[in-house]
Amino acid sequence: MSAEVAEVAVEQAPVETPEAVPDVAEVAQTEEKMEETAAPATEETEAKKETGLSGTVAKHYNDLREGSVFDRARSRIYYQRNFNNWIKSMIIANSLKAVHRKKGCTVLDLCCGKGGDLLKWTKGHIKKLVCADIAAVSVQQCQKRYNDMVERNRRSGNQKTFAAEFISADCAEVLLTERYQEKDMLFDLCSCQFSFHYSFEAAARARTMLRNACERLRPGGYFVGTIPNGYELVSRLKESDGLTFGNEVYKVTFENKETFPLYGCKYDFHLEGVVDCPEFMIYFPLLEEMAKEFDMELVYLKKFQDIYEENCESVDNQALISKMQALEQFPPEKGTGTASKKEDDYSHAETRHTEVMGMENEDKKPTSIGTLSKSEWEASSLYCAFAFKKAGDFEEEEEEEEEEAAPVAEEKKEEEEKTEEVANGNGEEAAAEVEGEGGEEAGAEGEAEAEGEEEAQ
Ligand SMILES: C[S@@+](CC[C@H](N)C(=O)[O-])C[C@H]1O[C@@H](n2cnc3c(N)ncnc32)[C@H](O)[C@@H]1O
Repeated sequence: MSAEVAEVAVEQAPVETPEAVPDVAEVAQTEEKMEETAAPATEETEAKKETGLSGTVAKHYNDLREGSVFDRARSRIYYQRNFNNWIKSMIIANSLKAVHRKKGCTVLDLCCGKGGDLLKWTKGHIKKLVCADIAAVSVQQCQKRYNDMVERNRRSGNQKTFAAEFISADCAEVLLTERYQEKDMLFDLCSCQFSFHYSFEAAARARTMLRNACERLRPGGYFVGTIPNGYELVSRLKESDGLTFGNEVYKVTFENKETFPLYGCKYDFHLEGVVDCPEFMIYFPLLEEMAKEFDMELVYLKKFQDIYEENCESVDNQALISKMQALEQFPPEKGTGTASKKEDDYSHAETRHTEVMGMENEDKKPTSIGTLSKSEWEASSLYCAFAFKKAGDFEEEEEEEEEEAAPVAEEKKEEEEKTEEVANGNGEEAAAEVEGEGGEEAGAEGEAEAEGEEEAQ
């Protein structure tokens, strides 16, 4: 797919604080109440009492069939899932840069699902990964994918795999500190993608999940995630005639449109062939307040559109859009149709394509643009991304820098030798290895990134 010019600029509903959403003063009061109810001694008991829908959520994800590549390609929301997955790639790559450790980061993938982000961790050259999820079947599949990856890398001999451990647990109830293999485990990054909102069923559950995300972060460590945007949910609900809004690919149903409790604000979320599950709205200023207890400062809260716009210019990121098929080609190739058959679902793309075709510089003029149908964009733009940073600065120890200097120089030398052999035309094996590094990863990327799609809403 050619995505020289990516166009997802569909009009978005304004993101304003709707009146019915409580203000920060109310949040502060609730915080006081929360502090009363969430004292450490009673926290787990409280959480246990309130595990109402977590069984339903776990069952839903355990029962999710692993779709084949063919099934996924036929999915009506193929591009939206890939687009969301690309957004995750950007968030992960950027946060790994922000917490840069010369020896590689240690990462907690909180609510890891089936391991849809494993390849992103490989590409990020992390040192250690801990994967945790409530759905035991998903954790098993995640571990199997990891083992397959280790084996693939071992056979090809050109990529070292990070160490990993897997925990099957309700992370809104169980304290993960009690489950890590290393008792004094510290993380550089916690990533919780498309999942944190499940914990907002009750105050104690949200707090436990947040505690798991933040308490083992080292100073300067990041907690990043993607969640449905509470403002967007409420404004779309208010604009709708009844309690349901959505389109042919997604549907959200609230229980009422007048009151929005801070916890337990349940809605049913249906996403074409992927999710049909109860979820809980997060009022973001509350999460920001709660995070302070764990010394976490907000770095950003962004719409997906912002993430896209900030990252789409780079050549590498554009190549990844193309490789992951994160945007649909418009106009489609001859003999193929568009993903959506709905009238008007591509009028924005038509306008943009006409503009592009009018460009004067013939050399730079692409024949097609990359886009998402309006229906898919409406579903994708329901989400936002956030990053928190743990207070304090982290200083990498001097010895680490010295130790690291040698292997990097060694690797560079090996790389130069390989390139030289290829250039001399007498290094067939080396050539295969060099190609393998990019080529194999490209293949695996396409496949494994696609494998994670079912979890990327
Ligand atoms: C939409 S999937 C996202 C999976 C993965 N993060 C990704 O982006 O591919 C949501 C995940 O959250 C997990 N989850 C929901 N509630 C949880 C909880 N209380 N503790 C741990 N995992 C939970 C589900 O089992 C599911 O795997």
